[in-house]
Amino acid sequence: MDNIVLIGFMGSGKSTIAKVLSKKLNMKIADMDGDIEREEGRTISDIFSEDGESYFRSLEKSYLNRASEREHTILSTGGGVVVTDGNIDLLHKIGTVIFLQADVEHILNNVKGDTKRPLLQGGNVREKIIGMLEVRDPIYLSAANVIIQTSGKSVMTIVEEIISIL
Ligand code: S3P
Repeated sequence: MDNIVLIGFMGSGKSTIAKVLSKKLNMKIADMDGDIEREEGRTISDIFSEDGESYFRSLEKSYLNRASEREHTILSTGGGVVVTDGNIDLLHKIGTVIFLQADVEHILNNVKGDTKRPLLQGGNVREKIIGMLEVRDPIYLSAANVIIQTSGKSVMTIVEEIISIL
């Protein structure tokens, strides 16, 4: 098991960091949301609207159960993966769990204009993010083997920081 698992809120930079890190470390990359969309043959938004969030969460769990077979892979997870009971244990079975911790401004900047994340559509996005972060940040923190602050840092700085810690 030499995998790396990136966790963190929507817009914290997991996919971007995963891409750069995988090139630097010559590791494979797996994008959980992208793989789920491919397996289902429809977008995350369609999964949410057609079958609901709890069905999507069951797809995430099934994906994690299979992901422990991977090797030398950087897994970029969906932001809500930590909220389902039992998933944190599964993440630890897959690899070293790195939490990319971002503040509200960083997240807002990355998700502005986004139409692909069902949980951030409509209403006051800032308020939604603040409310969800209050619930999720303690869970990310307790799930993480490594915590990296991403706000105000370049992708390269974050990647170098991760490499130096690993
Ligand atoms: C979600 C995050 C999304 C995606 C889905 C639900 C969440 O992934 O899995 O929209 O609950 O935080 P990203 O973190 O890649 O945006």
